[in-house]
Amino acid sequence: MDDISPFCGNYRHSLSSRCHSVLRRLLVLMVALLRTDVIALQVIGGNVTVEQGGTAILPCHVIDTNDDLTQISWQRRTREKPRNDNFLTILPREGVQFLNGGDDQFKYIGNFNDKNGTLQLSNVTLKDEGSYTCIFTFFPSGNQKTEIPLNLLVPPFTNIKENLPTLGTEEVLFATCTAAGSKPPAEVRWLTGALGDKVRTTTNSTQYDNGTTTTVSSLFAVPTREINGHQVQCVISGDSLTKEETLPFIIQVYFAPAEVKIRAISEDSFECLTEANPNAKFTWSRSGQSLLQSSVKVNGAELQLLSLSSDLNGLYQCEASNAYGRKHSQLYVHVASGACSAAWALFRVLVFLNVTGAAAWYFYKHGYLIRRPENTPDDDNTPDSDPLRASSAVDDPGPHDV
Ligand SMILES: *[C@@H]1O[C@H](CO)[C@@H](O)[C@H](O)[C@H]1NC(C)=O
Ligand SMILES: *[C@@H]1O[C@H](CO)[C@@H](O)[C@H](O)[C@H]1NC(C)=O
Ligand SMILES: *[C@@H]1O[C@H](CO)[C@@H](O)[C@H](O)[C@H]1NC(C)=O
Ligand SMILES: *[C@@H]1O[C@H](CO)[C@@H](O)[C@H](O)[C@H]1NC(C)=O
Ligand SMILES: *[C@@H]1O[C@H](CO)[C@@H](O)[C@H](O)[C@H]1NC(C)=O
Repeated sequence: MDDISPFCGNYRHSLSSRCHSVLRRLLVLMVALLRTDVIALQVIGGNVTVEQGGTAILPCHVIDTNDDLTQISWQRRTREKPRNDNFLTILPREGVQFLNGGDDQFKYIGNFNDKNGTLQLSNVTLKDEGSYTCIFTFFPSGNQKTEIPLNLLVPPFTNIKENLPTLGTEEVLFATCTAAGSKPPAEVRWLTGALGDKVRTTTNSTQYDNGTTTTVSSLFAVPTREINGHQVQCVISGDSLTKEETLPFIIQVYFAPAEVKIRAISEDSFECLTEANPNAKFTWSRSGQSLLQSSVKVNGAELQLLSLSSDLNGLYQCEASNAYGRKHSQLYVHVASGACSAAWALFRVLVFLNVTGAAAWYFYKHGYLIRRPENTPDDDNTPDSDPLRASSAVDDPGPHDV
Protein backbone atom coordinates (compact mmCIF):
# COMPACT_ATOMS: atom_id res chain seq x y z
CA MET A 1 0.00 0.00 0.00
CA ASP A 2 2.87 2.27 0.69
CA ASP A 3 3.86 2.07 -3.00
CA ILE A 4 0.68 3.85 -4.01
CA SER A 5 0.64 6.36 -1.17
CA PRO A 6 2.34 9.05 -3.25
CA PHE A 7 -0.51 8.77 -5.72
CA CYS A 8 -3.14 9.26 -3.02
CA GLY A 9 -1.19 11.48 -0.73
CA ASN A 10 -1.19 10.67 2.93
CA TYR A 11 -4.12 8.31 2.74
CA ARG A 12 -3.98 7.35 6.38
CA HIS A 13 -5.19 10.76 7.39
CA SER A 14 -6.90 12.41 4.47
CA LEU A 15 -7.85 9.77 1.91
CA SER A 16 -10.01 11.56 -0.55
CA SER A 17 -12.96 9.60 -1.87
CA ARG A 18 -11.69 9.99 -5.45
CA CYS A 19 -8.35 8.53 -4.61
CA HIS A 20 -10.06 5.74 -2.71
CA SER A 21 -12.10 4.71 -5.72
CA VAL A 22 -9.05 4.77 -8.01
CA LEU A 23 -7.21 2.53 -5.55
CA ARG A 24 -10.10 0.15 -5.46
CA ARG A 25 -10.26 -0.07 -9.24
CA LEU A 26 -6.56 -0.79 -9.35
CA LEU A 27 -6.97 -3.61 -6.83
CA VAL A 28 -9.84 -5.08 -8.79
CA LEU A 29 -7.72 -4.94 -11.95
CA MET A 30 -4.83 -6.69 -10.22
CA VAL A 31 -7.06 -9.45 -8.90
CA ALA A 32 -8.60 -9.85 -12.33
CA LEU A 33 -5.16 -10.08 -13.94
CA LEU A 34 -4.10 -12.66 -11.39
CA ARG A 35 -7.22 -14.69 -12.00
CA THR A 36 -6.88 -14.73 -15.82
CA ASP A 37 -3.33 -15.89 -15.29
CA VAL A 38 -4.57 -18.86 -13.21
CA ILE A 39 -7.27 -19.73 -15.77
CA ALA A 40 -4.83 -19.40 -18.65
CA LEU A 41 -2.23 -22.07 -17.96
CA GLN A 42 -4.07 -25.36 -18.06
CA VAL A 43 -2.83 -28.92 -18.36
CA ILE A 44 -5.42 -30.92 -20.22
CA GLY A 45 -5.45 -34.64 -19.58
CA GLY A 46 -8.24 -37.20 -19.76
CA ASN A 47 -9.70 -40.38 -18.39
CA VAL A 48 -8.69 -43.37 -20.45
CA THR A 49 -10.38 -46.74 -20.70
CA VAL A 50 -8.87 -49.48 -22.81
CA GLU A 51 -9.41 -53.16 -23.36
CA GLN A 52 -6.71 -55.53 -22.17
CA GLY A 53 -4.12 -56.07 -24.89
CA GLY A 54 -5.11 -52.84 -26.60
CA THR A 55 -3.28 -49.55 -27.04
CA ALA A 56 -3.96 -46.62 -24.74
CA ILE A 57 -3.30 -42.99 -25.59
CA LEU A 58 -2.52 -40.95 -22.46
CA PRO A 59 -3.33 -37.42 -23.65
CA CYS A 60 -1.67 -34.44 -22.05
CA HIS A 61 -1.05 -30.93 -23.30
CA VAL A 62 -0.89 -27.37 -22.06
CA ILE A 63 -2.87 -24.45 -23.27
CA ASP A 64 -2.54 -20.72 -22.94
CA THR A 65 0.94 -20.08 -21.77
CA ASN A 66 3.91 -18.34 -23.28
CA ASP A 67 6.25 -19.52 -20.57
CA ASP A 68 9.22 -21.59 -21.64
CA LEU A 69 8.70 -25.31 -21.33
CA THR A 70 11.85 -26.89 -19.96
CA GLN A 71 10.72 -30.50 -19.52
CA ILE A 72 7.77 -32.88 -19.53
CA SER A 73 7.84 -35.79 -17.15
CA TRP A 74 5.54 -38.71 -16.41
CA GLN A 75 4.82 -40.46 -13.14
CA ARG A 76 2.69 -43.53 -12.54
CA ARG A 77 1.00 -45.34 -9.72
CA THR A 78 -0.09 -48.75 -10.99
CA ARG A 79 -1.12 -52.11 -9.67
CA GLU A 80 2.46 -53.24 -10.34
CA LYS A 81 4.10 -50.08 -8.94
CA PRO A 82 1.77 -48.77 -6.25
CA ARG A 83 4.18 -46.00 -5.20
CA ASN A 84 4.69 -42.91 -7.32
CA ASP A 85 7.22 -43.89 -9.93
CA ASN A 86 8.93 -41.30 -12.13
CA PHE A 87 9.47 -43.31 -15.22
CA LEU A 88 9.93 -40.97 -18.16
CA THR A 89 11.21 -37.49 -18.92
CA ILE A 90 11.13 -35.59 -22.18
CA LEU A 91 13.74 -32.86 -22.63
CA PRO A 92 13.83 -30.36 -25.49
CA ARG A 93 17.19 -31.47 -26.84
CA GLU A 94 17.80 -34.97 -25.48
CA GLY A 95 14.29 -36.22 -26.17
CA VAL A 96 12.78 -39.18 -24.31
CA GLN A 97 14.65 -40.53 -21.29
CA PHE A 98 13.42 -43.63 -19.46
CA LEU A 99 14.43 -43.33 -15.83
CA ASN A 100 14.47 -47.03 -14.98
CA GLY A 101 15.54 -48.57 -18.23
CA GLY A 102 13.79 -48.59 -21.58
CA ASP A 103 10.25 -49.77 -21.93
CA ASP A 104 9.07 -50.31 -25.46
CA GLN A 105 5.48 -50.43 -24.28
CA PHE A 106 5.65 -46.62 -24.13
CA LYS A 107 6.06 -44.29 -27.05
CA TYR A 108 6.13 -40.50 -26.89
CA ILE A 109 3.75 -39.32 -29.61
CA GLY A 110 3.34 -35.69 -28.52
CA ASN A 111 5.31 -32.71 -29.66
CA PHE A 112 7.54 -30.77 -27.33
CA ASN A 113 7.24 -27.49 -29.21
CA ASP A 114 3.44 -27.76 -29.12
CA LYS A 115 3.66 -28.41 -25.35
CA ASN A 116 2.08 -31.79 -26.04
CA GLY A 117 3.19 -34.59 -23.73
CA THR A 118 0.90 -37.33 -25.07
CA LEU A 119 2.16 -40.91 -24.51
CA GLN A 120 1.09 -44.13 -26.18
CA LEU A 121 1.03 -47.34 -24.16
CA SER A 122 0.67 -50.52 -26.16
CA ASN A 123 -0.29 -54.05 -25.15
CA VAL A 124 -1.94 -52.83 -21.97
CA THR A 125 -2.29 -55.39 -19.19
CA LEU A 126 -3.81 -55.27 -15.73
CA LYS A 127 -0.44 -54.39 -14.21
CA ASP A 128 -0.49 -51.10 -16.16
CA GLU A 129 -3.81 -50.02 -14.71
CA GLY A 130 -3.61 -47.03 -12.41
CA SER A 131 -3.01 -43.33 -12.52
CA TYR A 132 -0.55 -41.52 -14.78
CA THR A 133 0.57 -37.99 -13.96
CA CYS A 134 1.95 -35.72 -16.60
CA ILE A 135 4.09 -32.85 -15.27
CA PHE A 136 5.12 -29.80 -17.30
CA THR A 137 8.01 -27.74 -15.97
CA PHE A 138 7.95 -24.10 -17.05
CA PHE A 139 10.32 -21.25 -16.60
CA PRO A 140 9.66 -19.15 -14.61
CA SER A 141 6.26 -20.39 -13.41
CA GLY A 142 7.34 -23.88 -12.28
CA ASN A 143 5.43 -27.19 -12.41
CA GLN A 144 1.92 -27.81 -13.64
CA LYS A 145 0.45 -31.29 -13.73
CA THR A 146 -2.62 -33.39 -14.28
CA GLU A 147 -3.57 -36.96 -13.44
CA ILE A 148 -4.88 -39.35 -16.06
CA PRO A 149 -6.65 -42.47 -14.79
CA LEU A 150 -6.12 -45.55 -16.92
CA ASN A 151 -8.95 -48.08 -16.57
CA LEU A 152 -8.80 -51.56 -18.01
CA LEU A 153 -11.61 -53.59 -19.48
CA VAL A 154 -11.08 -57.32 -19.33
CA PRO A 155 -13.74 -59.39 -21.11
CA PRO A 156 -14.62 -62.61 -19.31
CA PHE A 157 -14.08 -66.19 -20.42
CA THR A 158 -17.54 -67.66 -20.58
CA ASN A 159 -18.83 -71.21 -20.48
CA ILE A 160 -21.67 -73.45 -19.36
CA LYS A 161 -20.83 -76.57 -17.43
CA GLU A 162 -23.41 -79.30 -17.34
CA ASN A 163 -23.84 -81.28 -14.15
CA LEU A 164 -25.38 -84.41 -15.80
CA PRO A 165 -28.48 -84.86 -13.62
CA THR A 166 -30.33 -88.19 -13.67
CA LEU A 167 -34.07 -88.63 -13.13
CA GLY A 168 -35.16 -87.93 -9.60
CA THR A 169 -37.54 -86.16 -7.28
CA GLU A 170 -35.16 -83.87 -5.40
CA GLU A 171 -33.90 -80.54 -6.67
CA VAL A 172 -30.40 -80.81 -8.11
CA LEU A 173 -27.85 -78.60 -9.85
CA PHE A 174 -28.31 -78.75 -13.62
CA ALA A 175 -25.62 -76.42 -14.87
CA THR A 176 -23.38 -73.50 -14.01
CA CYS A 177 -22.79 -70.55 -16.29
CA THR A 178 -19.48 -68.79 -15.66
CA ALA A 179 -18.04 -65.43 -16.67
CA ALA A 180 -14.46 -65.73 -15.46
CA GLY A 181 -11.98 -62.91 -14.90
CA SER A 182 -14.08 -59.95 -15.95
CA LYS A 183 -13.31 -56.33 -15.19
CA PRO A 184 -15.57 -54.66 -14.31
CA PRO A 185 -17.64 -57.62 -13.05
CA ALA A 186 -19.99 -59.17 -15.61
CA GLU A 187 -23.65 -59.82 -15.01
CA VAL A 188 -24.70 -63.43 -15.52
CA ARG A 189 -28.33 -64.48 -15.69
CA TRP A 190 -30.48 -67.32 -17.00
CA LEU A 191 -33.46 -66.89 -19.30
CA THR A 192 -35.67 -69.86 -18.52
CA GLY A 193 -38.75 -68.85 -20.51
CA ALA A 194 -41.71 -71.16 -20.12
CA LEU A 195 -40.09 -73.17 -17.34
CA GLY A 196 -40.90 -70.35 -14.92
CA ASP A 197 -40.73 -71.48 -11.32
CA LYS A 198 -39.81 -75.05 -12.21
CA VAL A 199 -36.23 -73.82 -12.10
CA ARG A 200 -34.28 -71.78 -9.60
CA THR A 201 -31.08 -69.81 -10.12
CA THR A 202 -28.43 -68.42 -7.79
CA THR A 203 -25.53 -66.16 -8.59
CA ASN A 204 -22.19 -65.98 -6.90
CA SER A 205 -19.08 -63.97 -7.52
CA THR A 206 -15.47 -63.95 -6.42
CA GLN A 207 -13.13 -60.99 -6.76
CA TYR A 208 -9.41 -61.52 -7.29
CA ASP A 209 -6.44 -59.39 -6.25
CA ASN A 210 -5.78 -58.39 -9.86
CA GLY A 211 -9.15 -56.61 -9.93
CA THR A 212 -11.03 -59.17 -12.01
CA THR A 213 -14.17 -60.94 -10.88
CA THR A 214 -15.55 -64.35 -11.68
CA THR A 215 -19.34 -64.58 -11.63
CA VAL A 216 -21.09 -67.93 -11.57
CA SER A 217 -24.81 -68.47 -11.97
CA SER A 218 -26.21 -71.88 -11.11
CA LEU A 219 -29.40 -73.46 -12.45
CA PHE A 220 -31.36 -75.81 -10.18
CA ALA A 221 -34.46 -77.92 -10.84
CA VAL A 222 -36.12 -81.22 -10.05
CA PRO A 223 -34.88 -83.62 -12.74
CA THR A 224 -38.16 -84.77 -14.27
CA ARG A 225 -38.82 -86.06 -17.78
CA GLU A 226 -41.07 -83.06 -18.25
CA ILE A 227 -38.27 -80.53 -18.24
CA ASN A 228 -35.94 -82.71 -20.29
CA GLY A 229 -35.19 -81.13 -23.66
CA HIS A 230 -36.23 -77.57 -22.76
CA GLN A 231 -33.96 -74.88 -24.05
CA VAL A 232 -32.78 -72.09 -21.77
CA GLN A 233 -30.12 -69.41 -22.19
CA CYS A 234 -27.39 -67.90 -20.12
CA VAL A 235 -26.90 -64.20 -20.80
CA ILE A 236 -23.64 -62.47 -19.93
CA SER A 237 -23.43 -58.71 -20.07
CA GLY A 238 -21.43 -55.82 -18.72
CA ASP A 239 -19.08 -52.99 -19.66
CA SER A 240 -16.25 -55.42 -20.34
CA LEU A 241 -18.19 -56.93 -23.25
CA THR A 242 -18.87 -54.99 -26.41
CA LYS A 243 -22.15 -56.86 -26.72
CA GLU A 244 -24.21 -59.24 -24.64
CA GLU A 245 -23.24 -62.87 -24.96
CA THR A 246 -25.95 -65.51 -25.08
CA LEU A 247 -25.09 -69.15 -24.47
CA PRO A 248 -27.89 -71.58 -25.31
CA PHE A 249 -28.35 -74.63 -23.13
CA ILE A 250 -30.64 -77.61 -23.53
CA ILE A 251 -31.78 -79.06 -20.24
CA GLN A 252 -30.97 -82.72 -20.15
CA VAL A 253 -32.18 -85.27 -17.66
CA TYR A 254 -30.35 -88.54 -18.10
CA PHE A 255 -31.99 -91.92 -17.71
CA ALA A 256 -31.49 -95.55 -18.63
CA PRO A 257 -33.71 -97.24 -21.26
CA ALA A 258 -37.10 -97.56 -19.58
CA GLU A 259 -39.19 -100.09 -21.47
CA VAL A 260 -38.12 -101.83 -24.65
CA LYS A 261 -40.75 -102.50 -27.32
CA ILE A 262 -40.38 -104.53 -30.47
CA ARG A 263 -42.54 -103.47 -33.38
CA ALA A 264 -43.01 -105.06 -36.78
CA ILE A 265 -42.14 -102.70 -39.59
CA SER A 266 -43.11 -105.23 -42.23
CA GLU A 267 -43.68 -108.98 -42.40
CA ASP A 268 -40.03 -109.71 -42.07
CA SER A 269 -38.48 -106.79 -40.29
CA PHE A 270 -38.70 -105.58 -36.75
CA GLU A 271 -37.71 -102.51 -34.90
CA CYS A 272 -36.69 -102.15 -31.32
CA LEU A 273 -37.93 -99.01 -29.54
CA THR A 274 -37.15 -97.42 -26.22
CA GLU A 275 -36.89 -94.10 -24.50
CA ALA A 276 -33.53 -93.22 -23.01
CA ASN A 277 -31.20 -90.24 -22.59
CA PRO A 278 -28.68 -90.32 -24.08
CA ASN A 279 -30.21 -92.36 -26.92
CA ALA A 280 -29.84 -96.08 -26.43
CA LYS A 281 -27.65 -98.30 -28.50
CA PHE A 282 -29.41 -101.46 -29.69
CA THR A 283 -27.96 -104.90 -29.90
CA TRP A 284 -29.79 -107.82 -31.45
CA SER A 285 -28.76 -111.31 -30.47
CA ARG A 286 -30.14 -114.79 -30.76
CA SER A 287 -30.56 -117.07 -27.83
CA GLY A 288 -28.23 -120.02 -27.85
CA GLN A 289 -26.51 -119.21 -31.15
CA SER A 290 -25.04 -116.38 -33.09
CA LEU A 291 -27.07 -114.40 -35.60
CA LEU A 292 -26.72 -115.95 -39.02
CA GLN A 293 -25.11 -113.38 -41.25
CA SER A 294 -26.73 -114.87 -44.33
CA SER A 295 -30.28 -115.04 -43.06
CA VAL A 296 -30.72 -111.90 -40.97
CA LYS A 297 -29.60 -108.35 -41.36
CA VAL A 298 -29.16 -106.03 -38.41
CA ASN A 299 -29.11 -102.29 -38.88
CA GLY A 300 -29.07 -100.49 -35.53
CA ALA A 301 -32.49 -101.01 -33.98
CA GLU A 302 -33.74 -103.04 -36.96
CA LEU A 303 -33.71 -106.74 -37.50
CA GLN A 304 -34.57 -108.04 -40.92
CA LEU A 305 -35.20 -111.67 -41.71
CA LEU A 306 -33.71 -112.30 -45.10
CA SER A 307 -34.68 -115.87 -45.92
CA LEU A 308 -37.88 -117.06 -44.37
CA SER A 309 -36.74 -120.55 -43.55
CA SER A 310 -37.22 -122.58 -40.41
CA ASP A 311 -33.49 -122.13 -39.70
CA LEU A 312 -34.50 -118.80 -38.30
CA ASN A 313 -36.83 -120.23 -35.74
CA GLY A 314 -35.90 -119.33 -32.24
CA LEU A 315 -35.70 -116.64 -29.62
CA TYR A 316 -34.21 -113.25 -30.49
CA GLN A 317 -33.33 -110.52 -28.08
CA CYS A 318 -32.99 -106.79 -28.49
CA GLU A 319 -31.01 -105.05 -25.82
CA ALA A 320 -31.13 -101.26 -25.43
CA SER A 321 -28.35 -99.68 -23.42
CA ASN A 322 -26.76 -96.39 -22.57
CA ALA A 323 -24.30 -95.19 -19.92
CA TYR A 324 -27.05 -95.32 -17.28
CA GLY A 325 -28.32 -98.85 -17.76
CA ARG A 326 -29.70 -101.50 -20.09
CA LYS A 327 -32.95 -103.35 -20.71
CA HIS A 328 -34.10 -105.93 -23.23
CA SER A 329 -37.08 -107.59 -24.88
CA GLN A 330 -37.42 -110.84 -26.72
CA LEU A 331 -39.04 -111.98 -29.89
CA TYR A 332 -39.86 -115.53 -30.84
CA VAL A 333 -39.71 -116.26 -34.50
CA HIS A 334 -41.40 -119.26 -35.99
CA VAL A 335 -41.55 -119.63 -39.71
CA ALA A 336 -44.16 -122.15 -40.74
CA SER A 337 -43.59 -122.74 -44.41
CA GLY A 338 -46.04 -125.67 -44.40
CA ALA A 339 -46.01 -128.73 -46.54
CA CYS A 340 -46.72 -126.89 -49.71
CA SER A 341 -43.64 -124.89 -50.51
CA ALA A 342 -45.55 -122.68 -52.92
CA ALA A 343 -47.85 -121.59 -50.13
CA TRP A 344 -45.25 -120.48 -47.63
CA ALA A 345 -44.90 -117.05 -49.01
CA LEU A 346 -48.61 -116.49 -48.44
CA PHE A 347 -48.64 -117.95 -45.04
CA ARG A 348 -45.73 -116.76 -43.03
CA VAL A 349 -46.49 -117.11 -39.43
CA LEU A 350 -44.50 -115.15 -37.00
CA VAL A 351 -44.96 -115.88 -33.40
CA PHE A 352 -44.20 -113.55 -30.58
CA LEU A 353 -43.41 -114.82 -27.20
CA ASN A 354 -44.40 -112.82 -24.22
CA VAL A 355 -41.47 -113.40 -21.95
CA THR A 356 -43.50 -112.98 -18.80
CA GLY A 357 -44.62 -116.53 -19.46
CA ALA A 358 -48.05 -116.34 -21.04
CA ALA A 359 -47.41 -116.68 -24.73
CA ALA A 360 -49.28 -114.32 -26.98
CA TRP A 361 -49.62 -115.69 -30.43
CA TYR A 362 -50.26 -113.48 -33.38
CA PHE A 363 -50.84 -114.87 -36.79
CA TYR A 364 -49.92 -112.78 -39.75
CA LYS A 365 -50.58 -113.03 -43.40
CA HIS A 366 -49.10 -110.34 -45.57
CA GLY A 367 -48.83 -108.23 -42.52
CA TYR A 368 -52.53 -108.36 -41.59
CA LEU A 369 -53.79 -109.78 -38.37
CA ILE A 370 -56.10 -112.59 -39.31
CA ARG A 371 -56.76 -114.43 -36.12
CA ARG A 372 -56.06 -114.17 -32.52
CA PRO A 373 -56.73 -117.13 -30.18
CA GLU A 374 -59.40 -116.48 -27.55
CA ASN A 375 -57.34 -117.69 -24.66
CA THR A 376 -54.55 -115.16 -25.07
CA PRO A 377 -54.41 -112.86 -22.08
CA ASP A 378 -54.32 -109.23 -23.08
CA ASP A 379 -51.53 -107.79 -21.05
CA ASP A 380 -51.53 -104.54 -22.91
CA ASN A 381 -53.99 -101.92 -21.80
CA THR A 382 -52.43 -98.85 -23.29
CA PRO A 383 -54.66 -97.37 -26.00
CA ASP A 384 -51.87 -96.74 -28.53
CA SER A 385 -50.45 -100.20 -28.12
CA ASP A 386 -49.24 -102.15 -31.06
CA PRO A 387 -50.64 -105.68 -31.28
CA LEU A 388 -47.16 -106.77 -32.26
CA ARG A 389 -45.63 -105.45 -29.14
CA ALA A 390 -43.47 -107.85 -27.24
CA SER A 391 -43.43 -106.90 -23.62
CA SER A 392 -40.26 -105.86 -22.05
CA ALA A 393 -38.19 -108.43 -20.39
CA VAL A 394 -35.90 -108.79 -17.48
CA ASP A 395 -34.96 -105.55 -15.85
CA ASP A 396 -31.24 -105.31 -16.07
CA PRO A 397 -29.71 -102.11 -14.75
CA GLY A 398 -26.41 -102.07 -16.51
CA PRO A 399 -23.07 -100.77 -15.36
CA HIS A 400 -22.79 -96.99 -15.16
CA ASP A 401 -19.40 -96.83 -16.74
CA VAL A 402 -20.29 -98.13 -20.15
C1 LIG B 1 -12.96 -42.48 -15.45
O1 LIG B 1 -13.81 -43.34 -16.21
C2 LIG B 1 -14.19 -44.51 -15.54
C3 LIG B 1 -14.91 -45.39 -16.50
O2 LIG B 1 -15.68 -44.68 -17.39
C4 LIG B 1 -15.00 -44.15 -14.32
O3 LIG B 1 -15.37 -45.33 -13.63
C5 LIG B 1 -14.16 -43.29 -13.41
O4 LIG B 1 -14.94 -42.86 -12.32
C6 LIG B 1 -13.64 -42.07 -14.16
N1 LIG B 1 -12.68 -41.41 -13.30
C7 LIG B 1 -12.63 -40.11 -13.21
C8 LIG B 1 -11.60 -39.57 -12.28
O5 LIG B 1 -13.39 -39.38 -13.81
C1 LIG C 1 -1.05 -34.06 -29.01
O1 LIG C 1 -0.48 -35.16 -29.68
C2 LIG C 1 -1.38 -36.20 -29.97
C3 LIG C 1 -0.59 -37.33 -30.57
O2 LIG C 1 0.15 -36.94 -31.66
C4 LIG C 1 -2.45 -35.70 -30.91
O3 LIG C 1 -3.38 -36.73 -31.18
C5 LIG C 1 -3.18 -34.56 -30.24
O4 LIG C 1 -4.13 -34.01 -31.12
C6 LIG C 1 -2.18 -33.47 -29.81
N1 LIG C 1 -2.91 -32.50 -29.03
C7 LIG C 1 -2.94 -31.23 -29.36
C8 LIG C 1 -3.75 -30.35 -28.49
O5 LIG C 1 -2.36 -30.81 -30.34
C1 LIG D 1 1.89 -58.28 -24.57
O1 LIG D 1 2.26 -58.46 -23.23
C2 LIG D 1 2.30 -59.81 -22.82
C3 LIG D 1 2.57 -59.84 -21.33
O2 LIG D 1 3.38 -58.78 -20.93
C4 LIG D 1 3.35 -60.54 -23.65
O3 LIG D 1 3.36 -61.90 -23.27
C5 LIG D 1 3.00 -60.43 -25.11
O4 LIG D 1 3.99 -61.02 -25.89
C6 LIG D 1 2.87 -58.96 -25.50
N1 LIG D 1 2.36 -58.91 -26.87
C7 LIG D 1 2.83 -58.03 -27.73
C8 LIG D 1 2.19 -58.08 -29.09
O5 LIG D 1 3.69 -57.22 -27.47
C1 LIG E 1 -20.44 -69.18 -3.86
O1 LIG E 1 -19.10 -68.89 -3.54
C2 LIG E 1 -18.68 -69.37 -2.29
C3 LIG E 1 -17.27 -68.90 -2.05
O2 LIG E 1 -16.46 -69.15 -3.14
C4 LIG E 1 -18.78 -70.88 -2.26
O3 LIG E 1 -18.43 -71.37 -0.99
C5 LIG E 1 -20.20 -71.28 -2.57
O4 LIG E 1 -20.30 -72.68 -2.66
C6 LIG E 1 -20.64 -70.67 -3.88
N1 LIG E 1 -22.00 -71.00 -4.13
C7 LIG E 1 -22.42 -71.45 -5.29
C8 LIG E 1 -23.86 -71.70 -5.39
O5 LIG E 1 -21.67 -71.64 -6.23
C1 LIG F 1 -6.50 -62.54 -12.28
O1 LIG F 1 -6.34 -63.42 -11.21
C2 LIG F 1 -7.03 -64.67 -11.36
C3 LIG F 1 -6.85 -65.43 -10.06
O2 LIG F 1 -5.53 -65.46 -9.67
C4 LIG F 1 -6.46 -65.39 -12.56
O3 LIG F 1 -7.14 -66.61 -12.74
C5 LIG F 1 -6.65 -64.53 -13.79
O4 LIG F 1 -6.06 -65.16 -14.91
C6 LIG F 1 -6.01 -63.16 -13.60
N1 LIG F 1 -6.39 -62.35 -14.74
C7 LIG F 1 -5.51 -61.68 -15.46
C8 LIG F 1 -6.05 -60.94 -16.62
O5 LIG F 1 -4.33 -61.64 -15.18
